[in-house]
Amino acid sequence: MTKFLLLLWLVSPAALRAANDATPLIFTLGDKEVLRVAASDMAKRPNARTIEIFDPAFKKPKKYRAVPVKDLLTAAFGGAWSENALGELFFDALDGYRSHAKVSVLMQSGGMIAFEDLDAAGWEAIPNKGMTPAPYYLVWTGPEQKPKSGYPWPWAVVGVKMAILEDEYPNALPKGAGPDSAPARGWAVFKRSCISCHSMSGHGGTVGPDLNAPRGITRYQRRSFLKKFIKQASAFRHTKMPDFGELEPKELSDLMAYFDHMSDLHGTK
Ligand code: HEC
Repeated sequence: MTKFLLLLWLVSPAALRAANDATPLIFTLGDKEVLRVAASDMAKRPNARTIEIFDPAFKKPKKYRAVPVKDLLTAAFGGAWSENALGELFFDALDGYRSHAKVSVLMQSGGMIAFEDLDAAGWEAIPNKGMTPAPYYLVWTGPEQKPKSGYPWPWAVVGVKMAILEDEYPNALPKGAGPDSAPARGWAVFKRSCISCHSMSGHGGTVGPDLNAPRGITRYQRRSFLKKFIKQASAFRHTKMPDFGELEPKELSDLMAYFDHMSDLHGTK
């Protein structure tokens, strides 16, 4: 409820300009806060600049004021952050979306934290999403750095956390599954495409429902339905769940094996 009210407040036009300054971007390492930066601080950084990109969320060119995400990560975690080969950066968004990407992706050039939309006073609403990318929006300037190519573009970001995925989401790990078993392959798909929105027994994003608590999804939904739904949720409902038409039948079966394994593991019925 509080989150909902906060969202309402953020999208009201009067609050839009104030929102950025009132809401800092908070960086944490493990459970420790290491830095907070407001939009006004970002604007003063020497590398702040105007960028023009083709924005996949708006499906048109957009102009932002932005700072390189690498600069902020260095300010937060020190110069050696990029040597943490096992590390992942988690981006916490206002709507419960929680994307993650490896340090090796974030250390590439092109990632920018946008803190001001230069096309609209305040921020322009994202088509069909009912929200704007404020207060902070991770965008990429390289033409090949698209969401589908593994570059995260989370909007409405308020927190950035550095952690190791296995430490962050122990409840989602398919413990006891062999390295190339179907549940382990299903976990790889889930980690890549689903965990930003869905939790498993409490660990993951919260845009969609938890798929293992209190009951395992394959314990109460038919596999044939689940496979069709996951491939094309939009054919069933108007929903925030995206279509995953590119998933192969084998990947869908692997996902089912992962769900079964997880509900066995957590003793859900
Ligand atoms: C952008 C967020 C998002 C992503 C990414 C996402 N989902 Fe969802 N999903 C949702 C939302 C929101 C719902 C609940 C609304 C609905 O059921 O339409 C949902 C519902 C579901 C359901 C419940 C169906 C039912 O009726 O019981 C399943 C199963 C599911 N998602 C599986 C997946 C899988 C598997 C992936 C990855 C391949 C995935 N989702 C990726 C947002 C997402």
